[in-house]
Amino acid sequence: MSKPPAYLRRSVLYVPAANARAMAKSWSLGADVIVFDLEDAVAPSAKAAAREALITQLAENRRLGMEVVIRVNALGTADLALDLEAVARSRPDAVLLPKVDSADDLHAFAKSAAAAALPPDMLLWAMVETASGIAELDAIVQAGMSLQPRLHCLVVGTNDIAKETGVFTGDQRACLVPWLMHIVLVAKRRGVTVLDGVWNDFRNQAGFDLEATQGMKMGFDGKTLIHPSQVEHANRIFSPSPEALEDARRIVAVFSDPQHAASNVVNFDGRMVERLHYEQAVRLLAIHARTSGADQGS
Ligand code: COA
Ligand code: MG
Repeated sequence: MSKPPAYLRRSVLYVPAANARAMAKSWSLGADVIVFDLEDAVAPSAKAAAREALITQLAENRRLGMEVVIRVNALGTADLALDLEAVARSRPDAVLLPKVDSADDLHAFAKSAAAAALPPDMLLWAMVETASGIAELDAIVQAGMSLQPRLHCLVVGTNDIAKETGVFTGDQRACLVPWLMHIVLVAKRRGVTVLDGVWNDFRNQAGFDLEATQGMKMGFDGKTLIHPSQVEHANRIFSPSPEALEDARRIVAVFSDPQHAASNVVNFDGRMVERLHYEQAVRLLAIHARTSGADQGS
């Protein structure tokens, strides 16, 4: 049975490192993870100042229990080495590498990370946002899990996927779903976290809820976010629902009954329930214990 996730990554908020107001605000919004962005949200002329502001921000703030990630610029850019210096100085929990195309990219990144002397316990997150990145994903993840920093999380970049491929992203993402499900499948096979892409139309909350719920049903562990108004919704949608919790409690009770101690399969109000469902129920309750604790603390 898969264990409950060690990391809670339901709500993962991007915060442009060039936006001082947003950075200051980000600590108190209840997000499980903050991703400070040095890449696409920061104009080339603002990158140097953004790095300095980020270093100061991380020196002055750190909320216990919240993961902090820095998104750096892609391999092949002159900015990357400068970003990694800032990462080494500000010591986030993870570094997010955009536009990963191949396993070779991760080998190259490991060299850059070693040159920048990133701490050994820092994790690597990778954006899946190019046609090559999607097609090569299993090899990428396999390589990344044995490198340092170790690959721990995949982040879908739907805007870049649409830009490169021309895929239509409307109609509840009907054309994108096969690629998204492929990404989820590879993540589950290799045991890394997988996060859905962003919902751009941030004033349309109902649209966000629909898309986040779709992502949750697909098996994503959480959603990347661009605006504070999305945080609470993502936390709720990616937490076990009251109905699922009630079902799980009843399944645990059935299998805890001494008369079923030696049973692997039980008639549960006309529904077949197997021991694997019991194990799933125990896992869900363990996730609930973590999510409710996190939400009370936020
Ligand atoms: N993180 C933290 N705070 C944020 C925020 C974010 N991502 N986005 C907005 N805020 C803050 C604003 O600073 C503002 O704070 P204030 O009331 O103290 O002034 C408040 O939330 C309300 O913001 P609002 O006026 O609704 O939006 P905006 O016009 O300031 O910003 C965006 C809209 C889209 C520019 C902004 O949300 C943003 O930059 N999002 C992230 C974009 C990003 O990182 N993209 C790259 C990855 S896809
Ligand atoms: Mg991108």
